[in-house]
Amino acid sequence: MKKISQPFYLSILMIGLLASCSKKDISTTLVSSNLTTSDTAIVAADKLATLAVVVDPYAAIKLSFGNNIDPRNLLNYANQAKPAYILKDNSRNNPITNSKATLGRVLFYDKNLSTNNTISCGSCHKQNLAFSDIAPVSDGVEGGKTVRHSMRLINSRFARETKFFWNERALTLELQTTMPIQDHLEMGFSGLSGRGNMISLLAKLSKINYYKELFRFVYGDTTVTEARMQESLAQFVRSIQSFDSKYDAGRTLVRNENDAFPNFTAVENTGKNLYMTPPVFNAAGLRVTGGAGCNGCHNAPEFDIDPNSRNNGIIGLFGSTTIEVNDTRAPSLRDLTKKDGSINSPMMHNAAFNSLRGVLGHYNNIPLNNRNNNLDARLRIANTGQRLNLTPTETDAIVAFMNTLAGTNVYVDRKWGNPFLIP
Ligand code: HEC
Ligand code: HEC
Repeated sequence: MKKISQPFYLSILMIGLLASCSKKDISTTLVSSNLTTSDTAIVAADKLATLAVVVDPYAAIKLSFGNNIDPRNLLNYANQAKPAYILKDNSRNNPITNSKATLGRVLFYDKNLSTNNTISCGSCHKQNLAFSDIAPVSDGVEGGKTVRHSMRLINSRFARETKFFWNERALTLELQTTMPIQDHLEMGFSGLSGRGNMISLLAKLSKINYYKELFRFVYGDTTVTEARMQESLAQFVRSIQSFDSKYDAGRTLVRNENDAFPNFTAVENTGKNLYMTPPVFNAAGLRVTGGAGCNGCHNAPEFDIDPNSRNNGIIGLFGSTTIEVNDTRAPSLRDLTKKDGSINSPMMHNAAFNSLRGVLGHYNNIPLNNRNNNLDARLRIANTGQRLNLTPTETDAIVAFMNTLAGTNVYVDRKWGNPFLIP
């Protein structure tokens, strides 16, 4: 028996590849070619393995993700149901598709995106914590620590504000997504201190077999570019949505936010009123009537931040006397807490508060600091910070209302979970 030489074998493979674009056709071509040179039975096991990889376009995907990712049967990111009253959307020219969001999911959980393969986006944005981190500052590569607290990534899509980060330094979500990768303290591809940069990362990812398959599947070729990463990571982040709260159950039953919700307790409805209604102050800056005015900046029903908001008086940074007056963004106030009332993570850019009560204590008495030249005018009354003068009953009611914004599914839905078999 004559053994087929490797070059001959490869040339058949090449002909197969050139002659067709469908993988099924390639395998047929190979098999039939084999038959015509029929005296060939011996093919070493490793050649068979190579062949299997060539014939199954998703072999490496299967190896790394098992059933978690099946390109022939993608999970639904593109056509998720959303309530009719949710109208804000910052997707612009990058609407969600199942294939790009799936690629985004892999990138989001891949530690290869850090210089020493220890940190993924998911290390600091944990699904069971509303995609935030319980730690006030999160661990990056080689002992690096973030400067600010990790942000929850809930309903990022459903907002008027199109800029991201506490201080809005990312002009779009697309641009945001590759900034942590290039941050020296976070994922490390900064090009500083002998570390690689974005170009090195693209080269690194290009060599990984599941990315060859995924990029070909999503984009038609295996080229890994920063723009493709941004597009797919942003789609994945925008796909993370949460609309199964008690608030939503009530909102569907009424005409607008200000109607009493039939499914709410009296206390929750009182809290909602206080949240929605602007305060009325006397000349000394003390609230005499009206509500707490939260909705002026965190607008229902998305609870996204008013794009014109200035800072809310939280200007401290961790363990430093540096002040930050440009932190004027907050993520949606949905899912600050879980259904049981426990918080997902400390709140504000400096993780100042571990409870909603603590947050209300702040708004109840906004401190004035003469270095803060960017305090929102709504919170400064007659040369003093607002004093809401909330009674304990009013505070309890607002807390009860904010707890109605807790969802359930977003914490457990596998489409937003880590797809790696070995996480
Ligand atoms: C080492 C921890 C860490 C890693 C890794 C990390 N993040 Fe973050 N993320 C943060 C922190 C901290 C902030 C807030 C930073 C700031 O405003 O300066 C943040 C903010 C964000 C925001 C802004 C949210 C908003 O509402 O404005 C998005 C989106 C985001 N991260 C996505 C990602 C993606 C995508 C990755 C992976 C490519 C990633 N993050 C990796 C810690 C991390
Ligand atoms: C003038 C605009 C404004 C008003 C009014 C306002 N906020 Fe805020 N809020 C902000 C800004 C800006 C931030 C981000 C602060 C930071 O961390 O630097 C924020 C942050 C928060 C956070 C933290 C979010 C997170 O992800 O950590 C909570 C909770 C919050 N606000 C609740 C409230 C409540 C409750 C009220 C009403 C009593 C209220 N806010 C009124 C502007 C406002």
